[in-house]
Amino acid sequence: MQYNFDEIIERRNTQSSKWDNVGVRVGNSEALPMWVADTDFTCPIPVVEAVMERAAHPIYGYSFVVPEFYESTIRWIKKQHDWDIKKEWIVFATGVVPVMNTMIQEYTQEGDEVIIQQPVYHPFGFAINDNNRILVNNELIYKEGRYFIDFEDLEKRAASPRAKLMIICNPHNPVGRVWTEEELIRVADICVRNHVLMVVDEIHSDLIFEGYRHVPLASLKTEYAMNSVTCYAPSKTFNCAGLRGSGLVIPNPEIRKRLEQRFKMNRSIQQSIFALPAYVAAYTKCDDYLDQLLPYLERNVAYLDEYLKTYMPKIKLVKPEGTYLMWLDCSGMGMSPDELEDFFINRSLVAISKGSGFGSCGGQFVRMNIGCPRSILAKGLERIKRTYEEGIYEKDM
Ligand SMILES: Cc1ncc(COP(=O)(O)O)c(C=O)c1O
Repeated sequence: MQYNFDEIIERRNTQSSKWDNVGVRVGNSEALPMWVADTDFTCPIPVVEAVMERAAHPIYGYSFVVPEFYESTIRWIKKQHDWDIKKEWIVFATGVVPVMNTMIQEYTQEGDEVIIQQPVYHPFGFAINDNNRILVNNELIYKEGRYFIDFEDLEKRAASPRAKLMIICNPHNPVGRVWTEEELIRVADICVRNHVLMVVDEIHSDLIFEGYRHVPLASLKTEYAMNSVTCYAPSKTFNCAGLRGSGLVIPNPEIRKRLEQRFKMNRSIQQSIFALPAYVAAYTKCDDYLDQLLPYLERNVAYLDEYLKTYMPKIKLVKPEGTYLMWLDCSGMGMSPDELEDFFINRSLVAISKGSGFGSCGGQFVRMNIGCPRSILAKGLERIKRTYEEGIYEKDM
C-alpha cells in the first residue's frame, strides 16, 4: 500500500491533545502544534480497518488478551531487532508510562533512589517524584553536538545502597541517540553489579535512521534479561497512542509475577476493546508503512537541518539517530529558558516542548516534533524564521 505522508489531515475537533489542547498544555492556542509525541500522519490502513471492524459490532463489553497479541509481538521483535523472545515473557500493558510507575511502586520504597539520564522524557521524573522516591540524575554529557553517557558518574550513583532502579531510554527521547551495543553493555554491567533493576523503554526502537541499529539491551546477555523489563508499543511507530496498547518483555518469571500482581491490585490491566485489534494489525500487517515512513522522516530531518543552517544558524540541530523528536540547541541565541519559550511559543506561534521540561540541563534547548507533512514543518520554520530575523536584526545592529 502506498502512503502519502504529505497529506494534511485536519485534526482539530478530534479530542486531540496535540491540536485541541495546545492552549492548555503549551500555553498558546494559536501556536502550531509541534510538541507531544504523536504524528500528524494517518495510521496504517490495516490498523484503521481493524478498529472499524471491531467498532461495527455494537457491543463493547470487556475483552481479554488474545493469543494473537503474543504471536504478533514475537513476530515484530524478531523482524525488527532479530531477538527471539518467548511467549511466556510477554505481558500486555495499557501504556509504557504506567509500567514505570508500577515498577517503582513494586520494586522501591519511599526514599529509595531511581536513576534516570536527563535530559529525558519528563514522565520518568514525574513517576519518581509522584511516588516520593529520590530522583538521581546520571546526566548525559553534551560534547561537540553529541550526547554521551557519563559512566563514571553512573558507577558512583548505582553504588549507593538506596539505588534500586534505573529507567533507560533507548532510543533516547529527546536527544535522539540510539545507544550502541558497547554503551548498553557498560550501563547494564554497572546495573547488574550493583543490583539495580533496569526498566528499558524501547518505545521508539522502530524509528531508527540509516546507519544506526537498535539493540535491545536485554537481548545482549542472559543476566541483563533476568534483571530487566523492556517496554515496546506500536503507538509511536504507527501513530495510535490513544488506543493504549503496549507489550512488555520480561524474561525473569519472578519480576513478571510481581508486576502482573501489582497491575491486578491497581485494577489497571483492562484494555480498551480497540487496543488489541489495532496492536495485532500494526505488528503483523504494516511493515510497508514503516518502510515508507522512515525515509519520509529522514527527508524531514534533512529539510530542517538545511533550513536552520541557511536561515537560523544560531539554532543547531543535534543530529538525531532515530525518532521524530528533534532536539534543537538554542544556546547560540543567548536567551534564558523563559525567553526561549516566549520566542517560540508566543512570538513565533510554534508550540515546541521547552527543553527545561526534560531536566534543567535542557534549558538551552527545545524539542520539535517533525512527525508531520513537510508543508507543516515548512510553515513552522517560516514562522520561527520571521521572529529570528527580527531578533537577530535588533541584536546585531
Ligand atoms: C520515551 C517514551 N516513553 C513512553 C512514552 C509514552 O508511553 P505510553 O503512551 O505508552 O504511556 C513516550 C511518548 O512520548 C516516550 O517518548
